[in-house]
Amino acid sequence: MIEPGSKIYLAGHRGLVGSALHRRLSAAGHEQILVRTHAELDLTNQAATNDFFHSEQPDHVILAAAKVGGIHANDTYPGDFIRDNLQIQTNVIEAARQISVKKLLFLGSSCIYPKHAPQPMREEHLLTGPLEPTNEAYAIAKIAGLMMCRSYNRQYGTNFIAAMPTNLYGPGDNFDLETSHVLPALIRKFHEAKQAGRSEVELWGTGSPRREFMHVDDLADACVHLLNQFDAPTEGPQFVNVGTGVDITIRELAELIANVVGYSGGLRWNTDMPDGTPRKLLDVSRLHALGWDNARPTEEGVRETCAWYLENLAMS
Ligand SMILES: NC(=O)c1ccc[n+]([C@@H]2O[C@H](COP(=O)([O-])OP(=O)(O)OC[C@H]3O[C@@H](n4cnc5c(N)ncnc54)[C@H](OP(=O)(O)O)[C@@H]3O)[C@@H](O)[C@H]2O)c1
Repeated sequence: MIEPGSKIYLAGHRGLVGSALHRRLSAAGHEQILVRTHAELDLTNQAATNDFFHSEQPDHVILAAAKVGGIHANDTYPGDFIRDNLQIQTNVIEAARQISVKKLLFLGSSCIYPKHAPQPMREEHLLTGPLEPTNEAYAIAKIAGLMMCRSYNRQYGTNFIAAMPTNLYGPGDNFDLETSHVLPALIRKFHEAKQAGRSEVELWGTGSPRREFMHVDDLADACVHLLNQFDAPTEGPQFVNVGTGVDITIRELAELIANVVGYSGGLRWNTDMPDGTPRKLLDVSRLHALGWDNARPTEEGVRETCAWYLENLAMS
């Protein structure tokens, strides 16, 4: 339980996830949210991280700071991804232990699951098969973070838990076509095609893969629920999948976004480009059993995110 008046250190508060958590904690009336930008506190620096924790003494910690990137960046700079993420999480988790933080929430990612995990993916599927090679350095760092939480809980009696989110989207997302994920990329592509009066938009693959998308404000709500309701168990996984439990095809997603943006031209599927895994969906029965089942429908979330993009980023 995060008591009113607790001091909460939110690492990575300007990121997609961190900013949603900041909105959620502020809305819940938490006034002591401790934040530092990357420039103010580089969490890969162990001495600086320790100094910060010892002088500020937070009661709770949410670790949403990480080196994050798309397939291309992960595949090109795997050394940077594994080093920075191992350093950030090791420094934060160890400093939290040293000052006896009451609870820590670590943010993982659904890419930790084996490439051929049964669908939908359950927490028990962790470490049951090989990872997707393009992001295995990142995934191994995240798995090490989970193991560190679990091992500290066992040895030191800490209460360090983790949330494993599905694909996220929402306000503050990355809309750069070179590095963005599929959902924001589609919003931008259709908006620009509409503005330019293009009759056709080319999309990669067949459109048949199924994916799950969660609004980042729902993730933040679920994370706060976990902080309040979930303590690290002595047996079994100490992390919880966080998703909507519903997937849609990329074609359905594209048609939805085209409709919301008001693009009336055609879609051309370039089937020479690869599709990737046919399906990726989290099993969220554990989250539901813990009392959170509040994800908004994808259509509603997409409408809100399109509106946010048009208001904040789109060039008119
Ligand atoms: N986005 C998704 O779809 C998704 C899905 C599943 C899981 N997640 C997980 O959620 C977490 C956050 O992801 P995100 O999408 O919010 O990432 P993001 O938007 O890139 O934000 C990352 C944050 O980390 C901070 N940061 C990076 N390196 C740092 C360092 N060395 N020292 C201090 N701060 C540092 C950045 O600070 P500055 O802003 O100051 O630079 C930024 O605020 C990650 O663990 C990720 O795996 C994300």
